[in-house]
Amino acid sequence: MFSASTYQERRKKIASSVENGFVLIMGNEESPKNYHDNVYNFRQDSNFLYCCGIDKPGLHLGIDLNSGLSTLYGAEITIDHIVWMGEQPSLRELADQAGIDQVGSPKDLVKKLRETAVDLVHFLPPYRSLNANKLKEWLQLSELQPSNELIKSVIACRSYKEEQEFVEMEKALELTREMHHYVRDHAKPGMKESELSGVVAGLAQTQGGDLAYPVILTVNGQILHNHYHGNILKSGQLILGDFGCESAMRYAADITRTWPVDDSLTSQQKAIYQIVGDAHTAAVNALAPGRAYRDIHLLSSLVIANGLTELGLMKGDPAEAVKAGAHALFFPHGLGHMIGLDVHDMEDLGEDLVGYNDEIKRSEQFGLRSLRLGRKLETGMALTVEPGIYFIPQLMDQWETEGKHKDFINYADCKAFRNFSGIRLEDNYAITEKGSRLLGPVISK
Ligand code: GLY
Ligand code: MN
Ligand code: MN
Repeated sequence: MFSASTYQERRKKIASSVENGFVLIMGNEESPKNYHDNVYNFRQDSNFLYCCGIDKPGLHLGIDLNSGLSTLYGAEITIDHIVWMGEQPSLRELADQAGIDQVGSPKDLVKKLRETAVDLVHFLPPYRSLNANKLKEWLQLSELQPSNELIKSVIACRSYKEEQEFVEMEKALELTREMHHYVRDHAKPGMKESELSGVVAGLAQTQGGDLAYPVILTVNGQILHNHYHGNILKSGQLILGDFGCESAMRYAADITRTWPVDDSLTSQQKAIYQIVGDAHTAAVNALAPGRAYRDIHLLSSLVIANGLTELGLMKGDPAEAVKAGAHALFFPHGLGHMIGLDVHDMEDLGEDLVGYNDEIKRSEQFGLRSLRLGRKLETGMALTVEPGIYFIPQLMDQWETEGKHKDFINYADCKAFRNFSGIRLEDNYAITEKGSRLLGPVISK
């Protein structure tokens, strides 16, 4: 945990932007996998972690905006808990670690909620049905109305990382480097993807943390969220690995590398790898406070369109192609997103509220609409840069049949790339006053 004063200051700042009433930040419960006592690895809610750092189930935080007092709500440990789980800190001891003023029982929380006018209870959007159902019961409501004031206040705080948060992210990136280098050093023809993904998942747990998101490790990198690990690696294929761990304090790393299953890339793979690398470099060089990330996404899209035009897979004016969205056949996702306590930081609070604002609105165009972060960058933000090029046979067929963007795409020449799969390169950066800095150690490409 960070110091108690860190959490006190964060809570004060969050509460100061909410006018009146009672702020409730819900912690998570254990989550059953196949029966009640056989649970998934516990993951605390990130907003709760941000406000008090306590990584234990069954707790909630309340802040009374009139008195300014904070309360940690939960059930006290009984002898039964101690028999099965060993000695546990008391609620008061946990509250002290986070500088929380007082403690209360679950009943006290319900009483407090029931005596507060419903529209003065400020809570965040629950993403687990268990917490949503609890809230409905406590507030005696069938529809929940999360607090816009509180959502905006939390986003305004969590968007700018403290130096100690960067230190945690760097710890996650150190271990994530080992995970990626393991795949680089051990992938070979005849192996099953799961022989690699299993080791990577194990490594993620070696320092008290866990995976930050499910491992993508596949010879079918063109399937963007591919969690299947049953293929046998074959000579000539690429293996795309998108995985990262979270530190013991739950700060995430999110790294993608693409390796040849053999010792070197084919000339076709080299050509595409070079374009993705150029798009990555162009984007990184453009990172700076005041630059809209949407424009950096478009810049790296232009590098991709230029490269694919030189290769003969696209045609016409690359800038016009990007404007029309034709390059998105090969680069259908966004350049990146904020990262922190969540791999897609604060996505539970609303993607558009985190990544966009009144100045820059989300596009509806295929490709660009998947960009999670479009707003102007500011010092202290942490984000990913992750351009990629993919050959998705079903999408190429559909666009060709529809004659979509036929002035910009050489469908005939794309056929030689049908079995290519995909390449993505992803790193994590902090925005600094002068531009940006790579978070974590260099991970070989
Ligand atoms: N690992 C998920 C992503 O790159 O956004
Ligand atoms: Mn990412
Ligand atoms: Mn990723």
